[in-house]
Amino acid sequence: MCGIVGYLGSKEAYPILIKGLKRLEYRGYDSAGIALVNEKINLYKTKGKVSNLETFVESKNIAGTTGIAHTRWATHGEPNDVNAHPHFSDSKELAMIHNGIIENYDVLKEELMKVGVEFKSNTDTEVLIQLIEYIMKVEKVDLVNAVQLAISQVVGAYAIVVVSKKHPDMLIAARNGSPLVIGIGEDEFYLASDPSPIVEYTRNVVFVDDEEIAILKLGEELQIRTIKNQVKTPFVEQLELNLGDLEKSGFKHFMIKEIFEQPKSIRDSIRGRVNVGIDNISMAGIIDFKERFLQAKRIIFIAAGTSWHASLVGEYLFEELARIPVEVEYASEFRYRNPIINESDVVIAVSQSGETADTLAAIKLAKQKGALIYSICNVVGSSIARAADAGSYTHAGPEIGVASTKAFTSQVTVLVLMALLLGRKKGTISETRFQVLLNELNNIPSKVEQTLQLNDQIKEISKIFTYARNFLYLGRGFNFPVALEGALKLKEISYIHAEGYPAAEMKHGPIALIDKKMPVVVITPTSAIYNKVVSNIQEIKTRKGKVIAIVSKGDKLVSKLADYTFEIPETEEVLTPLLSVIPLQLLSYYIADMRDCEIDQPRNLAKSVTVE
Ligand code: G6P
Repeated sequence: MCGIVGYLGSKEAYPILIKGLKRLEYRGYDSAGIALVNEKINLYKTKGKVSNLETFVESKNIAGTTGIAHTRWATHGEPNDVNAHPHFSDSKELAMIHNGIIENYDVLKEELMKVGVEFKSNTDTEVLIQLIEYIMKVEKVDLVNAVQLAISQVVGAYAIVVVSKKHPDMLIAARNGSPLVIGIGEDEFYLASDPSPIVEYTRNVVFVDDEEIAILKLGEELQIRTIKNQVKTPFVEQLELNLGDLEKSGFKHFMIKEIFEQPKSIRDSIRGRVNVGIDNISMAGIIDFKERFLQAKRIIFIAAGTSWHASLVGEYLFEELARIPVEVEYASEFRYRNPIINESDVVIAVSQSGETADTLAAIKLAKQKGALIYSICNVVGSSIARAADAGSYTHAGPEIGVASTKAFTSQVTVLVLMALLLGRKKGTISETRFQVLLNELNNIPSKVEQTLQLNDQIKEISKIFTYARNFLYLGRGFNFPVALEGALKLKEISYIHAEGYPAAEMKHGPIALIDKKMPVVVITPTSAIYNKVVSNIQEIKTRKGKVIAIVSKGDKLVSKLADYTFEIPETEEVLTPLLSVIPLQLLSYYIADMRDCEIDQPRNLAKSVTVE
């Protein structure tokens, strides 16, 4: 959470930094700030979004070719002007931006207060910049050494960038646990939490690793050192990122653009892995660790949020097709309960951003205990992808809307491929079934296109439900995780309370909530348990609930019972989540839009949760 961006070069820094902040705003939008070095450090910050900052600096001096900027998701200290970043040191000779949490900030703060340092904010960040300055003064060391010494006292996660009034030609950055990437241009450097603010200026990037410090000086090569002062050779990678993916391209919001991108993103997740001519799946990460996968006694999925829902689909897929016992864990729970893990376990971390702090910590723990760690991430080069032994990227392209849509379907696509590949290698599915499912997976992108044609119908019906205070989502089998995901989408962006439930569990509680005002979304495409769900719909109708049903094309039974019916194309049961989730994404989008909600940046949420 929090987005950081920096520039050092000969161009005016302000426009680059502001544009960068807008690209990173998905990481948090409680407040924004900027510091520009121009004889002194001009620092401006204000509560609210980046657009507020732009208004705030309208009549200010924003000149300078060196600068740092920040968009915040508040942890320590309420989201106000004072707690916004950047933070000054006492003398105002240094300023710093920070993404992460300094866990021992209170101890450090107390010590600094004892020696007379005065604090302006309630943030952990100010403690670190004050500590750096204090070390420079007392130890008589230069800024780089002071940063090294200060962060060696810090417990917690950080990506920081420091500017100094005395060294306008220099930026110092450091990372431990929070992402940081450096762009190397012609006599200029860019810094950011992810490559999106950098891509239009340079494609040469260096991903900074944990416990590394980067020293960026004009006219010099990038230097990387560890906290212990070991010199590292920067590893320059080429960015593969399409600038168009970072724009709304005529859509009202990123979320709706990303919903409509799903035929392509699913195709991209399949591309290069399915050899259509010879009907084969190849996934390098699995081939490299084939024996570990084939002999795995258990697969444990670790994830959060929407990625946890995709993992739950993974459980159904792996158990059905590859006959491997699966557990699905919330990363935040797993890491704190002394889990039983051993060498015969394969842990699969699923994460769009590849930066979720809990997921990262959980896989580090599982790795220590000897499990093989496999990652399914969207962001290339992300921390989780790098910490894993092997993995597959989902190739969904940048997802900017905070509510995850195309990332979910591409995660499920990769999971289908993995389960099919393992099922075939283990002999748990027949060759015919393998070919049928693979063939059908190839048809899914065009079936998603057909499903998206429900758009206008869903928009129309959404009007009816803008009033709702609560929603219930029910599904069974492969569509139980979809019910959870549908409910999550609605609450995230429309702030309507929604619960997802396994349809048959309704009678153990939620049925008490049903009356004529309660909309119930029932996901019931053709499946082995279709008739059971039909009985659940009858139970809802008996109690006058409003049923919105997602059914397979040509369904006769449910459409007679339900108040509103959306038909999705017929497909194999194991692939239905890839289609049934689409109308739910559209429903939540249109309800939220009609309620005038901030769809791409819902309140209190952030896309990349890099704090516990
Ligand atoms: C946040 C985002 C969700 C996301 C979850 C897990 O809560 O708002 O959209 O599903 O984090 O993120 P990850 O990047 O690990 O998939």
